[in-house]
Amino acid sequence: MHDLRMKTSKLPKVAVLGTGGTIAGSGASSTQYAGYRAAVTGVDELLMAIPPLKDVADLESEQVAQVASQNLGGATLLHLARRVNFWLNQTDCTGLVVTVGTNTLEETAYFLNLVVKSRKTVVVTGAMRPSTSLSADGPMNLYRAVVAAVSIQTVGLGVLVVMNDQIIAARDVHKMDTMTVDSFRAPVFGILGWVFDNQVRLYKRSARTHTCDTEFDVIDLNSLPRVDIVVGHQDDSGVAVSALVEAGAKGLVVAGAGSASLSEAMAEAVLSATRKGVVVVRAPRTATGIVMRNMEFDDALHGTVAGDTLSPAKARVLLALALAHGKQADEIQAAFDMY
Ligand code: SIN
Repeated sequence: MHDLRMKTSKLPKVAVLGTGGTIAGSGASSTQYAGYRAAVTGVDELLMAIPPLKDVADLESEQVAQVASQNLGGATLLHLARRVNFWLNQTDCTGLVVTVGTNTLEETAYFLNLVVKSRKTVVVTGAMRPSTSLSADGPMNLYRAVVAAVSIQTVGLGVLVVMNDQIIAARDVHKMDTMTVDSFRAPVFGILGWVFDNQVRLYKRSARTHTCDTEFDVIDLNSLPRVDIVVGHQDDSGVAVSALVEAGAKGLVVAGAGSASLSEAMAEAVLSATRKGVVVVRAPRTATGIVMRNMEFDDALHGTVAGDTLSPAKARVLLALALAHGKQADEIQAAFDMY
């Protein structure tokens, strides 16, 4: 099966937006894996290093940012989302790929999944090894991301992540390992499919609402409110929660033990935070699992929101967007139940 969307001489157009990360990283030698510099090589150069792409798509590229992904802030994310929407609005643009740093790939992909206003395919990819390394994974990841972006099968599935041959829904993807090329998986819901050579093979789709069907848009947003994450632990004093409220956090994600249980002191600090108007979401400290409303913690009493199956990092993204759109705690609970 050769499933490129168009088999005429005119290739589909794909926009590739670069933001930095290890895929654009450079080491002192081809064997340097630790201590290389991320976000050095431009997206044009990355594409030029993959000659077979000329048979897959007619490529346009844009360098939207050049950073290590832990430094991506709200303003850059909003700018990226606007550029994604701009390219997808071009009638001759078939699909789009965003290259990102993998450290926070989950957050960028989920953010785009909530704010992109198009059913055209958006694929996020990156690399675990810098572009200068022996056996760099970036070129194949980028090649396969473009193959997925031009496939008719991926239309309307929401933002997808292509890493290490796998296609994973943005909502479900999780970085499981600090170093290995098979770091990206979907531990709770599983992957959607694979890309091998020029074939996309899909087996399922995400049931959660995304892209055109969300209530979120970036058009009128200039910034995202401050939302911090606190990891709870045995005998937690709650001091971190109080300090962050004092420092101006508008929202907090508390990553609690088990199904996001909080110590008594932490629960008191959270109650005080919600009484001051700070929206607090409970998310799991465990790698996987669901946090249900009023289970092992009285959300109704404390004014908190149960984070469903979102990781703390993704819960932070949804909470920031919901607050930016003026949502109250009950509406934010509905958003966590939907997205
Ligand atoms: C980054 O996230 O920007 C650096 C690490 C990576 O891309 O793997």
